[in-house]
Amino acid sequence: MSSLQGLVVLILAFISLLFTSAQSSSCNDQGFSFMKKRISITKCKNLGTLEAKFGWDYNEKTHNKTINVCFGARLHAVAGWVAWGVNPCPRPHMVGTRALIGIKQPNGLVVLNTFNITRDTKIGCRLLPSDIEVGVHNQHIEYLEETSFLIISATLTLPPEYNLSKLNHVWQVGSHVEDIEPKMHAVTLQNVDSTETIDLISEETQSIWHQRHHLRTVHGILNIVGWGVLLPIGVIIARYFRNFPVKYSRWYHFHIFCQVWAFTLGSTGWFMGMWLGRHSKFYEFRTHRILGIIIFTFSTLQMLAFLLKPEKKDESRQYWDIYHHFLGYSLIVVIIVNVFDGISILQPSQNWKWSYVGILVLLASIVLVLEVFTWIKFIKKKNKTENKT
Ligand SMILES: *[C@@H]1O[C@H](CO)[C@@H](O)[C@H](O)[C@H]1NC(C)=O
Ligand SMILES: *[C@@H]1O[C@H](CO)[C@@H](O)[C@H](O)[C@H]1NC(C)=O
Ligand SMILES: *[C@@H]1O[C@H](CO)[C@@H](O)[C@H](O)[C@H]1NC(C)=O
Repeated sequence: MSSLQGLVVLILAFISLLFTSAQSSSCNDQGFSFMKKRISITKCKNLGTLEAKFGWDYNEKTHNKTINVCFGARLHAVAGWVAWGVNPCPRPHMVGTRALIGIKQPNGLVVLNTFNITRDTKIGCRLLPSDIEVGVHNQHIEYLEETSFLIISATLTLPPEYNLSKLNHVWQVGSHVEDIEPKMHAVTLQNVDSTETIDLISEETQSIWHQRHHLRTVHGILNIVGWGVLLPIGVIIARYFRNFPVKYSRWYHFHIFCQVWAFTLGSTGWFMGMWLGRHSKFYEFRTHRILGIIIFTFSTLQMLAFLLKPEKKDESRQYWDIYHHFLGYSLIVVIIVNVFDGISILQPSQNWKWSYVGILVLLASIVLVLEVFTWIKFIKKKNKTENKT
């Protein structure tokens, strides 16, 4: 079973490659140098999502909770807003956040205000500047033309209910503004994951993003390798090597090998996907979920089909064949659609999408060559029999 070991090694190597995306956090990095000019910060961190950067300074000598903070993120349109805030609730999330929101208006004007984000904001009510319980001084906002970064900074005095060793902070970026009012942001995975609990003193973080991101990556890899690659290869083997154009005696062995591994990896990834779905209370990716359930059901039916396969001589065998093939081809279509849907949700590097496109093009070329070969062979054979008669 050396091919099996090879497969496992390949997958593990692929996974470890994706996990080594270190988060640099030195304030001397180029991205942070402009922040240091505005406000004194000693610690810096690239936040996991939305290309956001966060720098802060905490003075241990003062016993009140006064901190300098600086936050910046890239705007993707002429106008837009960036937000950063703290949340006194037990968990970091949007509702309850006391935020600083910097707005860049279409005419280039920038404004910075404080906002109290409530349940009403979440259901779509207007969000207007308001006082917050956090003391805010030295507010500053700046737009950097060359990098499209909108940067906000301030000195904050946090009320007693906040804990600097366990601070829930939340950030966001949006592209729509109306005067001094930030409008609804996009709801991609990155937007909803933009929260974490940070220890400003030791710099340790617990972010939803880090935990979930690894699981989602593994989910994506297992499903792409299992359902997206092995399963179609198994189908190609069955279609072209069973009998015609090529009769390969061990085709069945390879077909089963591919499909059992496709099912095992795919189902493992599927269970991870379902777990992720259950644990994301605030959002849902419905199409991806429904297609995933259809794929799991169809592939389970395909596996069960083997147990119910009629004998070759049996009359019903031809119906079984039609059913098995029809379900198999439909499955491939649904899988490809859902792989691309999943990639668009996860938004990993563009490499993912183009790698999968590359694999599909390769498989399609193989199918095309084999199909042409089948027809040539078929016509030759037909001519031969016609010449004989
Ligand atoms: C907290 O301490 C700093 C430094 O000593 C001081 O400047 C600031 O006014 C204090 N803030 C409050 C709310 O006491
Ligand atoms: C901000 O909103 C919360 C409800 O989410 C409310 O309890 C709090 O008093 C508000 N703060 C201010 C300063 O209005
Ligand atoms: C702040 O959080 C840390 C870490 O969880 C905890 O050890 C500490 O007791 C907390 N401090 C307060 C005042 O709650």
